[in-house]
Amino acid sequence: MNTAFPTQTSERTWWKEAVVYQIYPRSFMDSNGDGIGDLNGIISKLDYLQELGVTVLWLCPIFTSPNDDNGYDISDYQGIMADFGTLTDFDRLLEEAHKRGLRILLDLVLNHSSDEHPWFVESRSSKTNPKRDWYIWREGKNGQPPNNWESIFNESVWEYDATTDAYFMHVFSRKQPDLNWENTDMRAALYDMVRWWLDKGVDGFRIDAISHIRKQPGLPDMPNPNGLATVPSAAGHMNIDGVMDYISDLCANTFAHYDIMTVGEANGVSVDQAPAWVAPDARNFNMLFQFEQLKLWQTDGAHGLDLAHLKQVLTRWQKGLEGQGWNALFVENHDIPRIVSTWGDDAQYWRESATAIATLYFLMQGTPFIYQGQELGMTNYPFTELEQFDDVAIHNLARQRREQGWGEEDILNSIRDNARDNSRTPMQWDATRHGGFTTGTPWLAVNPNTRHINVASQQSDPESVLSYYQRLIRLRRDHPTLIYGQYDLLLEEHPQVFAYCRTAEERFIVLCNLSDSPADLEHTLADFADAQLMLGNQTGGRPRSLSILAPYEARVYRIRPD
Ligand code: NOJ
Repeated sequence: MNTAFPTQTSERTWWKEAVVYQIYPRSFMDSNGDGIGDLNGIISKLDYLQELGVTVLWLCPIFTSPNDDNGYDISDYQGIMADFGTLTDFDRLLEEAHKRGLRILLDLVLNHSSDEHPWFVESRSSKTNPKRDWYIWREGKNGQPPNNWESIFNESVWEYDATTDAYFMHVFSRKQPDLNWENTDMRAALYDMVRWWLDKGVDGFRIDAISHIRKQPGLPDMPNPNGLATVPSAAGHMNIDGVMDYISDLCANTFAHYDIMTVGEANGVSVDQAPAWVAPDARNFNMLFQFEQLKLWQTDGAHGLDLAHLKQVLTRWQKGLEGQGWNALFVENHDIPRIVSTWGDDAQYWRESATAIATLYFLMQGTPFIYQGQELGMTNYPFTELEQFDDVAIHNLARQRREQGWGEEDILNSIRDNARDNSRTPMQWDATRHGGFTTGTPWLAVNPNTRHINVASQQSDPESVLSYYQRLIRLRRDHPTLIYGQYDLLLEEHPQVFAYCRTAEERFIVLCNLSDSPADLEHTLADFADAQLMLGNQTGGRPRSLSILAPYEARVYRIRPD
C-alpha cells in the first residue's frame, strides 16, 4: 500500500461491494403473454443481469395482493401474487439467481397490510376480536374522523368501517390499514414471517416505509390555520420519537441472526440521526434510503436541478456517515420520475446526461442501486390524458384537485412530470411495439421511444448508456478505493461541475459537468495533469479538450501515486 495516501479503514463486507439492481416485477418481463411481468420472466433475464455486472437483485413486492398499490398492499406475506407465479417459481428464481452469483432482496412491507389480509378481516369483524388491536382503530369525533391527519396519498388517514362503527388508520391508501406496532403479538407474527423468508435463503430486504411505524402518542390534531379538510401529517406518523425502539426490536429478533443486506426506507430521517439506524454497533439496518435528495427534483433550475444544493446534500450524507455507517446510493426508483428526464436532458443531451448522472452518484462511498431501465437511459412517458395513469396516489391527487376546482388540463400538467408511473412503464427490451416486454397487451403502456431506447440496440453499441454502465460497474469492482475510499468534494463553488475525489490505496477524481454548456476547468488542471483517464463518456473515448468539459461530460481520473 502506498503510504502517500491516507487509508480509510472500513470493514469489508459483501454488501458494501455489491451493486444492486431494483426490479419492478410487474414491468420487467412477461413470460406468459398476460401483459404483466412475472417471476419466470425475471428468470429469463438473469443472464442479462449477470452480464451487466450487478450482484444483488431487489424485487419490489411479489406477495399475494389485491394490487391497490401495486403489491405494497399485501394480503398474504408468505404467498406469491398469482399474476407473478407461484412459490415454486420463486424457489427456482432464488436457485437460478444464486447459481449465477446473484443475491435476492425482498421488499418487506411492515407498516401496513392489505385490508384483505386475514388479520385485518378478523380485526374489523368485532371490537372484541383478538386481532382488533393489531390495527389502529378509533371512535369518530362528532360524526367526523378521529383527527385531521392527511395520508401520504392525499386523503384522510381514517376510513370509516360500519361493522363496528369505528375508523381505522391508513397512512397510505385506504386499502392499506396500518399495523399497530404497540401490539407485541402482531410484531411476533411479523417476525415469524420474516424468519420464514430468511430460512428459505433470501439474502436480505429493503424495508418499506419503516419510519412510519410509530405514531404520535395520543394522535393529536395537526395545526390547521387554513381550515383545510385534512392536513399533511408527517409530524404525526413519520420518524416519531421512539421509532428506533420498534426497529431495534425487529432487527434483534430477525436480521441480526443472518448474514444479509438490509436497507430501510427512511423518510424524514436526517443525517445526524442516521448513525442510530445504520452504525454497525447499533445492529439495526446496514443502510437507509434517505429522502433529502428527493426534494431536489422540483426546483426552478434549467433542468430542474439545483446543483449547489445537490452538492450540499450528497456531501453531507457522504461526510456524515464517514466511518460511522454506509450510504445507499440511488438516483431512481419506482416512486420517482426518470432521472434523465429530471436532472438530465432527455432531448439534446440524452446519452451524455444519462451517463454523467450515472458517474456522479455511482462512485461515491456506498452501495449503488440501479433501477430497471436506468441502465438504458429510459425516460419519462409522454402522458397526454389522466386516464393513462394507473397509480392510486395519482388518482387520489386528481380527485382532490378536482374537488378544489382545478381543470383537467391543469391537473394533467401538474402531475405529468412527477408521477410515479413515469418509471413504472415496462422495460424496453427491443424495438418492437411492446418493447419485447410482452406478447399480450401491457398493463401500462410501453414508452414509444422503445424504438430507439432498448436493450437489444444498446447491447451491440459500445458507446451506449448500457455499455457505459457495464464499464462503470467494472471500474468500481476493480478498485476498492472506489468502494471504501474517503470522499471529498472538489470545486465546491463551480456552478456547473460536480467533482469529488476518493482516496485510499489509490486516488481518483470524478468530474461531471451537469449542465448543457461547456465548463471550464482551467484553474484545476494542475490537480490531474499527470493523471490517467480511467473512464469518460465522450463518444470516441477521449475528451476533446483537457481543460474544458463538454456539456454533460463526465471523466474519472486515477492520480498516479507520488
Ligand atoms: C413506499 C413504496 O416505495 C411505495 O411504492 C409505496 O406506495 C409506499 N411505500 C406504501 O407501501
